[in-house]
Amino acid sequence: MKVSDALATRITCRAFLPDPVPEDMVRAILDKARFSPSGGNLQPWHVFVVAGDALKALIADIGQSMAETPRGQVPQYRIYPENLKDPYESRRFKCGEDMYATIGVARENRKGRIAQFQRNFRFFDAPVGMFFYLDRTMGPPQWADVGIFLQSIMLLAREHGLHTCSQEAWAQWHGTVAGHLNPPDEWMLFCGMGLGYMDEGAPINGLRTERAAVDEIATFLK
Ligand SMILES: Cc1cc2nc3c(=O)[nH]c(=O)nc-3n(C[C@H](O)[C@H](O)[C@H](O)COP(=O)(O)O)c2cc1C
Repeated sequence: MKVSDALATRITCRAFLPDPVPEDMVRAILDKARFSPSGGNLQPWHVFVVAGDALKALIADIGQSMAETPRGQVPQYRIYPENLKDPYESRRFKCGEDMYATIGVARENRKGRIAQFQRNFRFFDAPVGMFFYLDRTMGPPQWADVGIFLQSIMLLAREHGLHTCSQEAWAQWHGTVAGHLNPPDEWMLFCGMGLGYMDEGAPINGLRTERAAVDEIATFLK
């Protein structure tokens, strides 16, 4: 598969088939993704791969935590800036509205929206969930490095016929997740990622998000 095809076919998958993904396949993806570049070659990432009974236990525990504290735990980093300004806020709004439209959940249907959002915490039924951590002392350049690592995994997944769903939403349950993974105290959770085979028939996977044109995001000086 060409890089362009991997890029063109990667979307955020929000409904997975139950078909298992062999551990060897996940290992093969990570074995290539570890060659992602990072400033100073720090490789400031650590990934936990959770599947099978371990994943079931985590999801069950999250379900219980959600019943006890529906708002979740205070994320250890701010997912979006306060008072997100335009054009970013408009893009975020449109992406959300377009997503809920694919499943016919109107803005007023708060319960429906919450229920869909909470599917994050089942990894949208993916058979594999991954959690990405980095050392708390790391700054913006290293967070960017982790983003590069994530993209490598997302593109390599396409090569294996798999799809992914990056999920910052998991930051909301960092404490419960840590209870299962036991990461060192000096690490913090950035995000989760579901990995598996896409349910092609699921309406939510019909979402195709827009992008700003090249001339809006690039400046050419001649
Ligand atoms: C780091 C990161 C975190 C994300 N977190 C979530 C999330 O928690 N839940 C979700 O449904 N989508 C999440 N997304 C998906 C974005 O909304 C999606 O990438 C964006 O709308 C563009 O759509 P596309 O991936 O289908 O091209 C995340 C994406 C990234 C890169």
